Amino acid sequence: MRRIDPARLRAATERIVAAMGSDPAETRLIADHLVRANLAGHDSHGVGMLPAYVRMLREGKLIPNQSLATITDAGAILVFDAKRGFGAHMAHEAVARAIVRAREIGAVTLSLRNSAHIGRIGTYGEQAATAGMGFIAYVNVADHHPISAPFGCGEPRLGTNPFVTAVPAPGGAVVLDMATTTIAHGKARIARNKGEPVAEGCLIDAAGQPTTDPVPLVDHNVGALQTFGLHKGSGLAIMCEIMAGAVAGGQRADEPEQDSILNSMFAVLINLDALGGVARVAEGVAATRAHLTAARRAPGFDQIQLPGDPERGHAAQRTRDGIPIDNLTLAQITEAAAGLGITDFAAML
Ligand SMILES: NC(=O)c1ccc[n+]([C@@H]2O[C@H](COP(=O)([O-])OP(=O)(O)OC[C@H]3O[C@@H](n4cnc5c(N)ncnc54)[C@H](O)[C@@H]3O)[C@@H](O)[C@H]2O)c1
Repeated sequence: MRRIDPARLRAATERIVAAMGSDPAETRLIADHLVRANLAGHDSHGVGMLPAYVRMLREGKLIPNQSLATITDAGAILVFDAKRGFGAHMAHEAVARAIVRAREIGAVTLSLRNSAHIGRIGTYGEQAATAGMGFIAYVNVADHHPISAPFGCGEPRLGTNPFVTAVPAPGGAVVLDMATTTIAHGKARIARNKGEPVAEGCLIDAAGQPTTDPVPLVDHNVGALQTFGLHKGSGLAIMCEIMAGAVAGGQRADEPEQDSILNSMFAVLINLDALGGVARVAEGVAATRAHLTAARRAPGFDQIQLPGDPERGHAAQRTRDGIPIDNLTLAQITEAAAGLGITDFAAML
């Protein structure tokens, strides 16, 4: 395990993304997205994604410098197709356009179809919240073998289908950003790379039995992650699939897959200035925070946090102490960099 200075990691990541063919603006967006995911503590969606991105690029499943195709632009209805564009760029651009529209008319629904992996979805919640917007997003994962088993399924049928709700607040947005599986797939990958088991209740094996061994799933696509929270979490996973697939028009999990990662998203952005003002919302959020944090601590808890607090805590600590990256993940990135002709990746860190 190494601790890496965030600025150095960002510069080294930019070298890789530029070598993939991205123009300077896209390069900065992608590197910033990945390093911020690491800073937030979501190593599953940080620079460890680079080897998968390089593979997808080689196979023509991720296309740098893509621009959004506008499918529908009708007031509160915006529909874009990203045509396999570099995800963090495509989603950033789609949300930026939706923010402009929501400022004009109060609220907008944003459908983003068929983007290469858009990464940590909370980033877009933060983007919207910074602009004074409330943000709700249903995201699905397609063009990838299913890895999540909904309630009652003894084998995988869906992706890890993340769900996000974000609201601006004093001291930083409240951002609920979660996979609808008990853990994100990347967390099983990190556990596998560290040689550790995952927690109970996260995985089933090929026979549908509970297991804590991430190796069969990560290395051989055998078994499945379980959706969280019995039928309720499973229902949310299914609604992410339906809202991003059937409603937004993105690729669905039942369609033939080519071993890549396509994300589609159905999001709602609400201009809070048109809904009583950001200051009124901030007051209410502060009151809710005070109400919750005044509660007696449950056994084993020394603090009560709101969604988004852990990420801010990680970011402060990792900005100070560096971003921890395990040796196997580093080796995988170094190999991907070498394949792009970058032989001094490790030396840049
Ligand atoms: N692009 C994709 O296809 C895809 C798919 C799945 C997940 N993801 C991303 O993976 C990341 C990780 O997802 P995850 O489900 O493992 O996240 P997680 O379980 O670490 O956190 C989920 C949510 O719970 C909150 N939280 C965590 N600990 C808390 C605590 N002690 N008290 C209060 N709140 C707490 C977090 O702030 C967060 O909002 C997310 O950023 C998600 O967007 C992306």
